[in-house]
Amino acid sequence: MKTLTVSFFLITTLLLQSCGTEKTRDTVAENFDFAARQLLYAVELTEQITGNGTDDSQPETGRKPLSPRTAGEDGSLILVPAYDWTSGFFPGELWFMYEYTGDPHWEELAVRFTSPLEGQKLNRGTHDLGFMIYNSFGNGFRLSKRANYREVILEAARSLASRYKPEAKVIRSWDYTRNTWQCPVIIDNMMNLELLFKAFSESSDSTFYHIAVNHANTTMKNHFREDYSTWHVIDYDTITGEIRHRNTHQGYADGSTWSRGEAWALYGYTMTYRETGDETFLMQARNIAEFIFTHPRLPEDLIPYWDYDAPGIPDEPRDVSAAAITASALYELSQYGGEKAAEYRSRADTIIENLTDNYRAALHSGAGFLLLHSTGAKSLNSEIDVPLVYADYYFLEALLRKKNLGG
Ligand code: GLY
Repeated sequence: MKTLTVSFFLITTLLLQSCGTEKTRDTVAENFDFAARQLLYAVELTEQITGNGTDDSQPETGRKPLSPRTAGEDGSLILVPAYDWTSGFFPGELWFMYEYTGDPHWEELAVRFTSPLEGQKLNRGTHDLGFMIYNSFGNGFRLSKRANYREVILEAARSLASRYKPEAKVIRSWDYTRNTWQCPVIIDNMMNLELLFKAFSESSDSTFYHIAVNHANTTMKNHFREDYSTWHVIDYDTITGEIRHRNTHQGYADGSTWSRGEAWALYGYTMTYRETGDETFLMQARNIAEFIFTHPRLPEDLIPYWDYDAPGIPDEPRDVSAAAITASALYELSQYGGEKAAEYRSRADTIIENLTDNYRAALHSGAGFLLLHSTGAKSLNSEIDVPLVYADYYFLEALLRKKNLGG
């Protein structure tokens, strides 16, 4: 009788644990509730600085600070103008809030912060148009089908395509480093291909598609070492297409692996597989994931140091943005089957849980950002252990992907 009572107690406890703990915590809802309050606070802080918010009644020069990027040492909010590479993330977050809630107030805010970026569609001086235009107008078009947003996407894609160098089969990243590099391409540039794929699907102009696929193939050939770690910058000769240099800009050393670069690579090849159906890109994404999750210097909580080879590990800053990008990419990768699908999803869940519990800002602090402890560029002594808007963007995207997978 005693054994029977004990067994009954044990079984009941186990059942309660397995159902109860799963159900008591809704990480997605909890984070969106937090994000709703924190982003409204960020909007309020932004409007205090700009005077009248993102007033687009003035002719847009692209130079007026309007979009949150990070916080200063004194904790104050730092805004950037439309031409900054990070200008599209905050509007993107507002679109994600609209996607999650369906509340027209978020749509109104998203439109308010998206509109002033329109002039960037003609900016042919940067490769970052994917980040700037796809994350703002691209999400806006996906969710609201505004016809003028489609035009902005197509024009921006034409600007991005104008940077394609056919001999090297790459899109040039930066113009401002002409004294050092002839045609620098950074691994981050994989992310901008999503704008070209979108332009292809909207226009059926296959030029966009071919440029994106060529860039992805060239990058796959030249940016990766044997273990699927990445060089940050490859400099090409635009006449011969030969590689001139393999360097870093934001990583610790030319031969090291910059954590956010590796995360961009994972996301970029997962997305390129989605858009092309080419299994080579899927294998590439899986191999990059293998590099990340078997790395001996990846901390137990899966939030990487800013560079896998940073010399002072474990006393080096983390990069939460790399973790958030990785989590979002992993949710997508988990949908493409394979023996590691469940592992990808569980690793993404672990990252999300840890970001929620240990890296989130307190409500109405942190200049209105969601996550703390990102690193922009330690090698340049810039944005070390700070909130960064793109960490928040990919955190929300990851949460939406988690929700769409059933929570
Ligand atoms: N794309 C610039 C960066 O990741 O810092």
